Formats: sequence, C-alpha cells, structure tokens
Amino acid sequence: MTKPVILTGLRANNDLHIGNYFGAMLPTIEMAKSHVDEYQINMFIPDLHSFTTPIDHDDLQRQVWSNARLFAASGLPLDNDDILLYRQSYVPAHSELTWILDCFTGFGELSRMTQFKDKSQGAEDVKVGLFNYPVLMASDILLYGAKYVPVGDDQSQHLEFTRDIAGRMNNKFNDLFEVPYEVSKQHEFFGKGQGLRIMDLADPSKKMSKSADSDKGVIFLTDEPGAAAKKVMSATTDDRASVNYNTIEQPGISNLLQILSLLRGHPIEDVETAYKGQSSYGDFKRIVADEVAEFLTAFQAKLADVNDDAIKAAFERSEVRANEQANATLLRVQQAVGLRQKA
Ligand code: TYM
Repeated sequence: MTKPVILTGLRANNDLHIGNYFGAMLPTIEMAKSHVDEYQINMFIPDLHSFTTPIDHDDLQRQVWSNARLFAASGLPLDNDDILLYRQSYVPAHSELTWILDCFTGFGELSRMTQFKDKSQGAEDVKVGLFNYPVLMASDILLYGAKYVPVGDDQSQHLEFTRDIAGRMNNKFNDLFEVPYEVSKQHEFFGKGQGLRIMDLADPSKKMSKSADSDKGVIFLTDEPGAAAKKVMSATTDDRASVNYNTIEQPGISNLLQILSLLRGHPIEDVETAYKGQSSYGDFKRIVADEVAEFLTAFQAKLADVNDDAIKAAFERSEVRANEQANATLLRVQQAVGLRQKA
C-alpha cells in the first residue's frame, strides 16, 4: 500500500438512488478516472452490511451484481490495477478485524449512533448486526489504511467513530492503523462545504433512502425516466410560491435546487440565482423533471452497454489484491493483541 487510499462502499440492499450516486459513487469514480496516478481507489460492495436490516436473501446475488454494473455505468475503470472493485465477504479479514475491534468498542459509544437510533426506533426485532455495523465499517476502512472516505452526510458519524477506534487502538498498541482524515478535511478534499444529503421528494424532512417505506420520493438510477419525472412533478413543496434555497423554511424546493445543481454540475448559488423568486412551482418542477429524465436516459444507455465479463475479471483481480493488503493489516493487529507471535 504505497499510494494513499480513497475508499467507499455502497450496500446492495436495494437499487441505488441519486443520493447514493452523488453522495459517494460519483466523487470516488471521478477520482478513479482522474487521479489514479496518485491514489489507490477501493470501491467495494459491503455485502455483509446488506442484511443489517431484513432483505430478500434470494435476491442478494442479483443486487450485488446490479451495484457493480451501476459502478461500471458511472464510469469506474475496470482494468486498472490500482482501482479495486471487490465484495466485502470475499475478503474474510473484514469480519475478523470486526470481532477484534468489537472488544475495544464501548456499548454506550455505539448506542449513540444516530443511524442506529433512527433505524431501531419503533422496530420490533432489532438485530445485533444493526447495532454493530459501524464496527464492520471501521474495519472496511482501517484494513486498507484509507485516508479519504467519500460518503454522504448520514455516514459522517460512522467515519468519526472509525477515527476514534483507530486512535484508541493506536494509543494502546502503538500505531497500528492509518487514521482517515477528519470529516471537514474530507469535504475540503472533495471541494464541498459539507456532506451531501438529498432528501426524499415526497417527505423532504427525511433523507432519500433505499429502505424508505415508499419509493414515491426516491429516484432510483434504474427508474424509467418518465416515471422518475413524474416523481419530481409530485414532489412536496410549500405554499410560498417563490423559489429560494432555504433548507429550513423551504426544504422541498431547496432539495430540487440541490438536485438540479448536481445534475448540471453547477454550484447551488448559480442555480438559485437562475430561478430565485420564480413563482410557478409547476414550471420549476418541469425543468428539474426534464433534467432528471435526460440524466437517467443517458445513464441507462451506458448501463445497457456494461460488460459482465469485465466486471467478473475486475472482481477476481481485485479480490486477490484486497486479500493481500487486508491480511497484512490483520496480521499486524493479531500480533498486537497477542493472537500471533510478534515477528
Ligand atoms: P449506504 O449503502 O446506505 O449508502 C451508500 C452511500 O450513499 C450515501 N447516501 C446519501 N448521500 C446523499 N444523500 C442521500 N440521501 C444519501 N443516502 C445515502 C451514504 O452516505 C453512503 O456514502 N455503511 C455504509 C456503507 C459502507 C461504507 C463502508 C461506506 C460500509 N462500509 C466503508 C464507506 C466506507 C452504508 O450503509 O451506506
């Protein structure tokens, strides 16, 4: 591991949506396309994370492949030795390091994770895997010494936890892990003021989520473009009849401005200036809806061209390399905690 590592993972518990795309996939893939000379890029599918909440297990293989195809359609190069595309469960060190880190993680520490509180609230039968999943995520990151971890805003707390557990282990056992940069530095690196959080179109008080009860407010990358445009046309707004970027007072309209800014690759301020004060929400939504449909049409054309053999080859090549790198870190940890003889 000589180059600094940029790493991200996207769970395969449902199709991916535009929040996943803009929050984590695109920033990583853009680095893979333009900066692979300087960085190793790890883009992986956390398949063990996929069932922290219930899923249809008969569909998991299809979902894993679907994610990989979406990465390829988004432009992830599949034939570069320094770009790793792998499935988490094909690298057993992830599970093994998780157990070790579990034994150094406080119960109270994990109980404070907002995602756990949100997802477990009101659920009848909360599983230990849901509680524990930030530790598996920390292992995913620390095994490769990743410095940059592009994620959406909802994962920032887990990244901070990763830094905490790495720091604690380093204090106890003498510099075992590379510690990823703090969240603000991550944002700076990716040229953003803050983490991204695209909201649900139907209920803009909630984030757009793969596991939402209804898909009315979620734009999946595989949505038929006309159907996605309809979701935008039915987006919940407000009664002010004036387009403004104000996430507190006008969360629905602000979310649409945010989506438009991402689709166009223009700063939010420029997009706001172009539409500020517009009183017909119908006209404004039509602009966003058309842009969403155009984006999905182009994306899905690329998806249709993805070559599964190239993905298979990338998995096989990357999983060998990922195992080598992860096992080297795991051995250091095993030696530190006394499971293996020190060299
Ligand atoms: P997951 O699979 O829920 O989401 C994948 C990525 O998409 C981001 N994201 C969003 N970004 C903006 N707006 C939204 N509405 C939105 N919804 C989701 C997430 O922040 C995430 O970056 N635990 C992780 C997966 C993971 C991981 C890792 C990530 C496992 N190990 C190691 C990085 C490094 C998760 O459940 O993400």
